[in-house]
Amino acid sequence: MTHTTASSRLFESTSLGPLALPNRLVMPPLTRNRAGADGVPRPLMVTHYAQRATAGLIIAEGTTPNAVGQTYPNIPGIHTDAQVAGWRAVTDAVRAGGGRMFLQLQHGGRVGHPDNSGHRPVAPSPVALPETIHTPSGRQEAVVPREMTADDIRETVADFAAAARRAVDAGFEGVEVHAANGHLLHQFLAKNTNRRTDGYGGPVEHRVRFAVEVVRAVVDAIGADRVGVRISPGVTVNGVEEGDTNEIYAALVPALAALDPVYLHVIFADPGQPLYRRIRAAWPHTLIANPVLGFGGPLPADGGKAAGERLLDAGADLISLGRAFLANPDLVERLRLGAPLNPLRETNWMYSGDEAGYNDYPTLAGTAAPAAV
Ligand SMILES: Cc1cc2nc3c(=O)[nH]c(=O)nc-3n(C[C@H](O)[C@H](O)[C@H](O)COP(=O)(O)O)c2cc1C
Repeated sequence: MTHTTASSRLFESTSLGPLALPNRLVMPPLTRNRAGADGVPRPLMVTHYAQRATAGLIIAEGTTPNAVGQTYPNIPGIHTDAQVAGWRAVTDAVRAGGGRMFLQLQHGGRVGHPDNSGHRPVAPSPVALPETIHTPSGRQEAVVPREMTADDIRETVADFAAAARRAVDAGFEGVEVHAANGHLLHQFLAKNTNRRTDGYGGPVEHRVRFAVEVVRAVVDAIGADRVGVRISPGVTVNGVEEGDTNEIYAALVPALAALDPVYLHVIFADPGQPLYRRIRAAWPHTLIANPVLGFGGPLPADGGKAAGERLLDAGADLISLGRAFLANPDLVERLRLGAPLNPLRETNWMYSGDEAGYNDYPTLAGTAAPAAV
């Protein structure tokens, strides 16, 4: 189906539970490692998110709900008062710019290092990440994580709930529970990272249990209208191999739907894929689709607009475009006008950096005007 720019459904106003959204374009979580060493968001993050306030919804980068869950250096947290205050400056600026924000809660599990978090990482099973990991002194071999005990599991579920409460205190509209991309919840789902023999490992019904318990606790803490969940069926980043992808999501999606979170956010959503279509059919609420644009490959010239429109036609409700929002603070306006997008600069994406490659992408009007903060 072809679309004229003017008729694109991407620019329709819509709603997400009780929230009114001015368009269907979502900025998905993008880790940029710009927080302080103490996990406190810094002023340049206020500017970055405020520059992108015209998104229908911003989902802020993966943020650690407790100390041990920290993945890399300079990842923001949401478990101390200072972190809450830092995020409050961000949400105030985005709201002042007319925007709305969720916060992604990301526990890295085995994707972490004692030099980053001060703790030995914990995971469903003592299976190390098969990759080196970035630390302040450069890349190092991953360490074997400590297998979570029943107490660790209970405490981690409680930490997610407490982090969600803190996110609301920090002014976020809600949180996105990260069950994707090989982080802790995904490690419980996947066969190669979950070798447990208790009620959290083995059959699919056991492997989905931890993710469901986290989402239930977060829903109980802040209300289902404030909770989304991110999944990445079949994705193998961070060394996860699910083994039985179809069975996992056939069990997980209805179990999550029974808790009524306001959205499900599917990475690498492909309307031609039977699994994606089954997930759409099984999900009764808002579905945010992140199209397959060839992550790691070149970004299409339209940033993913045509792929997003195809997903809307196939029943998605909202479309998230990551690298396009990274490089274009005024992405919504550019796509609406059919204007060219800024080229992506991959220096200073992650692991280090300040304003360069972060807040210096120009708007159509000229330079990226730092938000009034
Ligand atoms: C620099 C960078 C950082 C990312 N950080 C996160 C993250 O913190 N949490 C997450 O769920 N996904 C993260 N992603 C994945 C994006 O949200 C998105 O799914 C991915 O970029 C594919 O979408 P795109 O093709 O529109 O860029 C990151 C991607 C990039 C490029």
